[in-house]
Amino acid sequence: MAEPRLAWITGASSGIGAALARELADHGWRVAVSARRADALAKLCSERPQRLWAYPLDVTDRAACAATADAIAAELGAVDLAVFNAGIGAEFDVQHFDADEVNRRMAVNYGGAVNGIGAVLPAMQQRGAGQIALTASVAGYRGLPGAAPYSASKAAMIALAESLYLDLAGSGVDMSVICPGYVTTPLTAARQGSMPFVISAEAAAEHIRHGLEAKRFEIAFPRRMVWLLKTLQRLPYALYFSLIRRAAGR
Ligand SMILES: NC(=O)c1ccc[n+]([C@@H]2O[C@H](COP(=O)([O-])OP(=O)(O)OC[C@H]3O[C@@H](n4cnc5c(N)ncnc54)[C@H](OP(=O)(O)O)[C@@H]3O)[C@@H](O)[C@H]2O)c1
Repeated sequence: MAEPRLAWITGASSGIGAALARELADHGWRVAVSARRADALAKLCSERPQRLWAYPLDVTDRAACAATADAIAAELGAVDLAVFNAGIGAEFDVQHFDADEVNRRMAVNYGGAVNGIGAVLPAMQQRGAGQIALTASVAGYRGLPGAAPYSASKAAMIALAESLYLDLAGSGVDMSVICPGYVTTPLTAARQGSMPFVISAEAAAEHIRHGLEAKRFEIAFPRRMVWLLKTLQRLPYALYFSLIRRAAGR
């Protein structure tokens, strides 16, 4: 009998990544989970033995990403689906613009996804099969106030996924981009402002699994938040700036 499909998820020690690992495991997948906190990963894996396996990793370390991909392939087999989901830092105060901090967020969110792609893509191209998904955000549709490094990193991830989707067409490697609206996770726990149309991490994971299994390019949810942000995306600057300032109370 063929082995169940194998997924690798980064940023899986909490929030959306952990919920997606549980969701995939409960729907027949084997899942390798990565993040920096080894204890949180071990705890998660203990919930679903023989379904979840921990591979602690800092996604900014390119060599470690490659070594982890090699270890997963050697110990569990070929990765069918890689979800590069590790991410930090939505909130940003322009009064304390720190270039190192801005670059660090880009290095984790965008750079971490690039390191992950570099680690799995050659083997997928050689096999002519595989799927790669990047967790971006609806915050990447436009530059949002109070979120400059976050919006910039997520916009970069969306553009990266679009280009790779086109470049990989016909290769057997599928590309997806995941754009959640607000989700209740440790990332949003400290948020001061309102979170319109917020959903749970479990609901987000269900959306993501359905989208991934259907091999959709864009997996964006919840619908009302996506509609709102996509509408703002189409507006000319004068109208966008005026509306978003009013909405953000600035
Ligand atoms: N929550 C939302 O409203 C929302 C909306 C849109 C998009 N997203 C995106 O969804 C993804 C997951 O976020 P979340 O909301 O679930 O927040 P979260 O619970 O804080 O999850 C972030 C994950 O990234 C991991 N991580 C951070 N830095 C890392 C690094 N250098 N190397 C490896 N792993 C690292 C964290 O684990 P360790 O600390 O153990 O490393 C954690 O597992 C992020 O990309 C986020 O931008 C979230």
